[in-house]
Order: sequence, then structure tokens, then C-alpha cells
Amino acid sequence: MSRYDLALIGFGGVNRALAELVFQRGDSLAEELGFALRVVAITDLRAGSLVDTDGIDLAPLLAAEPGELDFAGLPGGSTDPRNEWVIRHVPSDVVVEATFTNPADGEPALSHVRWALESGKHVCTTNKGPVALAGQALKALAAEHGVSFEFEGSVLSGTPVLRTAQSLFGGLEITGVEGIMNGTSNYVLGRIEEGVDLPAAIAEAQELGYAEADPTADIEGHDVQLKVMILANEVLGADLRREDIFCEGISTITPDEVRDAASKGLRWKLVGSATRNEDGSVDARVAPLALPSHHPLAGISGPVNAVSFHTDLLGTVTVSGPGAGRIETAYALLSDIIAIHQRHTSATRRVLQETHLV
Ligand code: HSE
Repeated sequence: MSRYDLALIGFGGVNRALAELVFQRGDSLAEELGFALRVVAITDLRAGSLVDTDGIDLAPLLAAEPGELDFAGLPGGSTDPRNEWVIRHVPSDVVVEATFTNPADGEPALSHVRWALESGKHVCTTNKGPVALAGQALKALAAEHGVSFEFEGSVLSGTPVLRTAQSLFGGLEITGVEGIMNGTSNYVLGRIEEGVDLPAAIAEAQELGYAEADPTADIEGHDVQLKVMILANEVLGADLRREDIFCEGISTITPDEVRDAASKGLRWKLVGSATRNEDGSVDARVAPLALPSHHPLAGISGPVNAVSFHTDLLGTVTVSGPGAGRIETAYALLSDIIAIHQRHTSATRRVLQETHLV
């Protein structure tokens, strides 16, 4: 049976949840998927680095409170995160990148992804920055080194938006995408409809774990802007930069406007969209819209997100599901590893067939 040795870069909520999945479901996953997973390295800004090429014992790490983790006292542990050394030099098959990253410049995730691809390792990441800002260059780097660069979790966490688009690609044209791609702003708009004021609704979203620590990117639309950029570039083949995408958040809508619209059967939503024009160019924008009740996105409430694909042969296809959450985002990483396995297995089979060995 194949086995993938994982290096987890960042050990916050998401990679810890992935470690939980590996620990709790490793045997059943191996039985179902035909490959085993083993964690051989973990790095974390606060806890340091931990390396065991025979496989790290995850039980004590998962039993400890996140804030109490200190790798320095463990065999193979160090207080220094040593990200570059671990990524480049510890033998691993997949570098799983889930660090706290600045969406403005994509760092440190962007460097982590580059180092891993340059070292011939497959990469999966949940960070939007590297994909939005350097997706094409990173995919070219992956191709140059014969490895995969996967990022399903960068848009709508584990809800399979990018893979749905890839599976729809055969034989039809996707002419546009539009969606509700930020759970915080959607939750906040729903609570304002119910009479709660903006600061209180944001505080609730933070308590429920939907909002970023600084919710400005959620409320002002910048989080959606990056997701639209990824969708436009990945699904519509555009080459947009952030400044090409008009962005207005929900802070400009008054509570009266939200409640007044609701009384007329309209629902304000923060909508991100990208549309291919007849000349092949792509227009993309993020803006609040008052949607009529029959619109496919009007009924998407609370922290749930949704993306509609407009196609020439199927009309509109909408995928909805969670857009955030530690387990939900960890599942995106697992789905990336499954995709890496499937691609790797079919590539190997092709070589064997071409050389008449099977
Ligand atoms: N804070 C985001 C949201 C999740 O509220 O949807 C991460 O992109």
C-alpha cells in the first residue's frame, strides 16, 4: 500500500484538525482509499519544530491544550520553527501548509509553498494568498518538478468548489461564477435583518469562530475579493490582479436598508462574481446586492456559503456548504491529498502501460 509522509507547516486549528483525522481515521481511510498517512514533521510559530521520520506519535500532542504545546521537550523537538529546513530537508511526500498568513502579500505561506515545490514535494495549502497572488507561477513550478500544488481549501474550505468546476469542465463552457463566499458578512447581514446592530453582530460572528481576528477583511469584502480572483483565474482562465476587481463591503449598507429590503422580500447579500465577456476578457467584482427571493443565492443564510457556476449546457449549477471551520478546512486538505494520490497513481499506471509493464 502507498504511504504519504506529511510535513505539517503551522499547527493552529486546521492542521491540528488534520492530525486528528489522521489519528482517528487513519486505518479506515487506508482501507477506503488504499493509502496510509503518516506525520513526520510539524512546525509551529509558538510550539517550535518536531521531526520523527518514523512517524510522530500524535496522541500526546492531540491530548494537550493547543496553547500548552511546546515541542522543545520532546525527542526530535526544537523551540525554533525551522520552517525552511523542515520543508526542504526533512524527507516527506506532501507539505501541508496552513500557517497564519498575511493575505496582502501571501507570506509566509508563499515562501513555504515555493520551498516545498522547489524541493520536489507535493503541496496543499488552505491559504488564499499564494493561490491568488502567484497561482500560475506556483503551478508552473509544480509542473517543472513533477509534483502537485493543491488548494481546494482556499475557497469555501472543504466545500468542493474548485473540484466541482474541474469536473464540469469537460465538454461545456463555464461563462461566469457568482457566490456568497464569506460566512461572517452573511451571518452579520442575517442578524441585522433580525434587529441586531452591526458591532454586536460582528462580535457574535467572532465568538462563533467565523470571523477573522480582525474582521475588517470579512466586512469590507477583501476576503471575497481574493476568492473571486482565485475563481476567475482558475475557472475562467483569467489573469486578474487584485486591483482589477472592484470591491465594496457591507459596511456601507444601513440596518434600515437591510430591514426595509427584507420587508419587501429582498435579501441583501455580499456577492462576489466574475463573468467572461464575448471578447474573452473577464470582469470581476465584489459588492452588496439586494437579491429577489427566487435568486439561487437569496436563501443562503448564516455562515453557509455558496457558489453558482453559469454554464452554456447546464444553466446554473450551485454548490453550497460550509465556508470556514477547522474540521471543514482540514477536510479540504485531506481531499487535496486524495487528489495527489489519484493523480500520482494514474501517472504511474500510464508510465507502466507505456513501457508495457502492465
Ligand atoms: N472569515 C472567513 C469567513 C473564512 O467568514 O467566511 C475564511 O476565509
